[in-house]
Amino acid sequence: MLILFDAYGTLLDWHRGMTEALEEEGLARGDAARLASEIRDVQIRLAWHAALTETYRDFDRLTREAVAHVLAGQLGEEAVERVARAQDRLPLFPDVTESLDGLRGARLALLSNGTLRSLQAALSRHGLLFTFDHVVSVDPARTYKPARRAYQHALQVLKVEKRDVLYVSGNDWDAAAAEHFGFRACHLRRSEGHPFPYVRAPRLAVRSAADLPALVSSLQTS
Ligand code: LAC
Repeated sequence: MLILFDAYGTLLDWHRGMTEALEEEGLARGDAARLASEIRDVQIRLAWHAALTETYRDFDRLTREAVAHVLAGQLGEEAVERVARAQDRLPLFPDVTESLDGLRGARLALLSNGTLRSLQAALSRHGLLFTFDHVVSVDPARTYKPARRAYQHALQVLKVEKRDVLYVSGNDWDAAAAEHFGFRACHLRRSEGHPFPYVRAPRLAVRSAADLPALVSSLQTS
């Protein structure tokens, strides 16, 4: 079994990293947290729009566009660039180290909408670059998850069959799309919330990444 992780919102805490970057620009914590959520929302909408309209541009650029849109009139161009670049130095969620330690020996990979450059920069800061067999960006496929072609791209790079993949994502829409694509998907539900009625719910869910090693061993013995 190959365990394929999503990056932002799954291993890397996008919201915290962006909130901190906005605080560094002088914004109060509450405003920074709210704006970080808005930027994430716009970034994801732009990515979906780019995938559906086939107007792909890479995720670094989409992130800059989202930051510039949300911060228009509040921060200047240089600050926008600094905030967008915070994506290269996102913190890890606190449960990730224990999870990856417990999964040692398993084949691990990552599939993200992010660019390889940015993913590698963030992972290297945590000494995690070589924890994964492969870090796969959707970039060569010139589309974004949840397009099927994005998940298909990972299969081609990783040379595995769909049925041999356990896909783990903290983003409900991503986990649901991966399940619909044909992966066995696990939604990492760190927070409460009422899941959207997406076409196919992920068949597995955990509350913490630290629960993954036990889940993987139970799947291997069943
Ligand atoms: C990613 C998005 C889902 O890392 O945040 O691909």
